[in-house]
Amino acid sequence: MFIDTHCHLEDENFTADRAEVIERAKMAGVERIINFGSTLASSIAIVELAKNFPELYGGVGIHPEEIDDFDEKTCEKLADLAADKKIVAIGEIGLDYHWEKDSARRLIQQKIFIEQLDLARQINLPVCVHNRDAHGDTLKILQTEGKNLRGVMHCYSGSLEMAREIWKLGWLIGVDGPLTFKNSAKLPEVVKAAPRDMILIETDAPYLAPVPYRGKRNEPAYVVEVAKKLAELRGETLEEVAAYTTANAQNLYQIF
Ligand code: NI
Repeated sequence: MFIDTHCHLEDENFTADRAEVIERAKMAGVERIINFGSTLASSIAIVELAKNFPELYGGVGIHPEEIDDFDEKTCEKLADLAADKKIVAIGEIGLDYHWEKDSARRLIQQKIFIEQLDLARQINLPVCVHNRDAHGDTLKILQTEGKNLRGVMHCYSGSLEMAREIWKLGWLIGVDGPLTFKNSAKLPEVVKAAPRDMILIETDAPYLAPVPYRGKRNEPAYVVEVAKKLAELRGETLEEVAAYTTANAQNLYQIF
């Protein structure tokens, strides 16, 4: 069994065939799927989907590219949504400096990230962190504001040195389709060095489809391609990768 620990099945790309996508995932052995919100509206949609499909779980949160969606009432609303028993995380939250070049708005991203880390601690949920081109500040915030929290650096794209700092905090890294790309840069080196209990597999569907589906719409069934690449790089069997990545996801998110 596999768990796709990060995707976006509420996305409009899945409106026409969501049930078939979930069925294909099950046929491929992907028996649990965790969707993550980026706005209040998508978070609400994720709670609804988790009610309608037994395989689906969710995380709720405001993505750093969506900070205009955040106000003083947002954390309260997210806490209400997170009270649903199939909501197992706060996320995806974090920093995105790739799309945000303005330093004042980057500071607002940091403030909103920290407020949502506080929320996760208050309601005792793990955290899924988005970080794009903001490695230094993300790590600094986790080290200073992440006390008594566990979570994952989703779609990991940093260095091995940074990964080691993350593992030291007891946090995991999430590995996606880019591991299968020819230009996967530092990622193979990171996953080869990763302790078994520190890796999750994810798709980030509909984005970032792995080879041989690169460029197409991604879907949870394809998380198996990420697992195959992990097995190849780490000299493990696919069964071993399935077993420990599933155990890691169950342990972090308490889904069984
Ligand atoms: Ni995502």
